[in-house]
Amino acid sequence: MFRSKKQTSANQKQRHLITQLNPKSPISEQYRTIRTNLQFSSVDENLQSILVTSAGPAAGKSITAANLAVTYAQQGLKTLLVDADLRKPTVHYTFRLNNLTGLSNVLVGSSSLEDAIEMTDVDDLYVLSCGPIPPNPAELLSSKKMRDILREAERMNDMVIFDMPPALAVADAKIVANIVDGSLVVVRSKTTEIDEAKRTVEMMQDAKARLLGTVLNDKEKSDSNYYYYYGS
Ligand SMILES: Nc1ncnc2c1ncn2[C@@H]1O[C@H](COP(=O)(O)OP(=O)(O)O)[C@@H](O)[C@H]1O
Ligand SMILES: [Mg+2]
Repeated sequence: MFRSKKQTSANQKQRHLITQLNPKSPISEQYRTIRTNLQFSSVDENLQSILVTSAGPAAGKSITAANLAVTYAQQGLKTLLVDADLRKPTVHYTFRLNNLTGLSNVLVGSSSLEDAIEMTDVDDLYVLSCGPIPPNPAELLSSKKMRDILREAERMNDMVIFDMPPALAVADAKIVANIVDGSLVVVRSKTTEIDEAKRTVEMMQDAKARLLGTVLNDKEKSDSNYYYYYGS
């Protein structure tokens, strides 16, 4: 079929998830290591909701959030991936969903959470896509309704993962960091400036976020095969 330029823009390209396509690859193993480390980091505290952010755009937040969500679901945990990047949503492209109804609808009360959640090809993995892009994302995300949605999502699932916009650009990640159990900051080895990564971590700490750690994305393959590294 003939495709317009718009339809094939970077965000809309088919996005493949390695944890889904090749669960035995070393990269998938690294995502499982992240999951295990998160589970160890929270033995005494409940860790049921996590957000994923970064300093700037294109660090790999969405790819990390999606692979992590698949990894949790593969462990048999009922997992909900929420596209809370109400500015540049991509989760619906990754899971090939239509995005007619999503988080923005639930936030303004035009849909129930249950009706807006969609199934995926992965057992135990559900997605709440962004829905129509709203004009006031930060305002919606700081509303009481957002806290209610989070609580309901936690009641219905074992793990809820939020894909957020970049933290240095807009307040959204900082706002949601206040209500979720923990936050992850993705750093892309070839592009994220160290200063910006540090500023993001400090900002999240100032926001009283429980910072769980950073994920180093896109690291050159090394002898030890550690493509991805997680540390606190
Ligand atoms: N480790 C990686 N290797 C190859 N491509 C990557 C990697 N991480 C991210 N990308 C690509 O970079 C682009 C931005 O990633 P994405 O997860 O959408 O970033 P963000 O959500 O932070 O803006 C996507 O096209 C994605 O497929
Ligand atoms: Mg993204």
